[in-house]
Amino acid sequence: MVKEVKQFIKDLGDENEEYFTNQSKWATTYWAEEMDLNSTIHALRMRYWNEYVGTEVLAKFMFRVSDPTLRMMVGRQVGDEAKHAFYMKKRIEELGYDVGSPLAEQLEFYKTLESFTYPEEFFTAQQFTVETQSVKRNEQALENFDEVTAEVFRKHINNDEVFHVRLGHAGMAYYCISEEAQLRATTAARIIREKHVAMSLANYKRLKEKV
Ligand SMILES: [Fe+2]
Ligand SMILES: [Fe+2]
Repeated sequence: MVKEVKQFIKDLGDENEEYFTNQSKWATTYWAEEMDLNSTIHALRMRYWNEYVGTEVLAKFMFRVSDPTLRMMVGRQVGDEAKHAFYMKKRIEELGYDVGSPLAEQLEFYKTLESFTYPEEFFTAQQFTVETQSVKRNEQALENFDEVTAEVFRKHINNDEVFHVRLGHAGMAYYCISEEAQLRATTAARIIREKHVAMSLANYKRLKEKV
């Protein structure tokens, strides 16, 4: 049965919250502890590739959003993510490293996102499920990175993420109004959560191996 959309969003938000709360700390973030240089480089490279590939995937998604207002809001987000990629790369290079290459689990995450052809699937998976958690991770970044890196997050990234989460809510409110759409959105959230955890744990594995 179709739920009233506000109730639907609240219930799925609660389900997501419970899922992520039950994960180990490195399963949800690339910077779970105070970061030394080596772990900072690993984390920033992960973030860089998320921003870079995310920008491309989001740009393609923009053309699948039928509502003109939401489409333009996605366009604004494309610009934000491109800016984030730019500043991640800049900081990595300032620290004397290059951006490396993405992990297989990252590419798998974005391939999954791209496979969501209905707007309600994408908005629910990325902006609503993943980026709601990103807001918390970004706060953690301020604590766990060196001061200059933390400042990059504070100045160029963290505020944008709040808009992305709001966009997720707006997209869901617009599209998740039938039983079928709510079912698709719920399934997309559950799939993407798993892929996101896999991606974070892959980072942790690489970190432990110190490669
Ligand atoms: Fe971003
Ligand atoms: Fe974002």
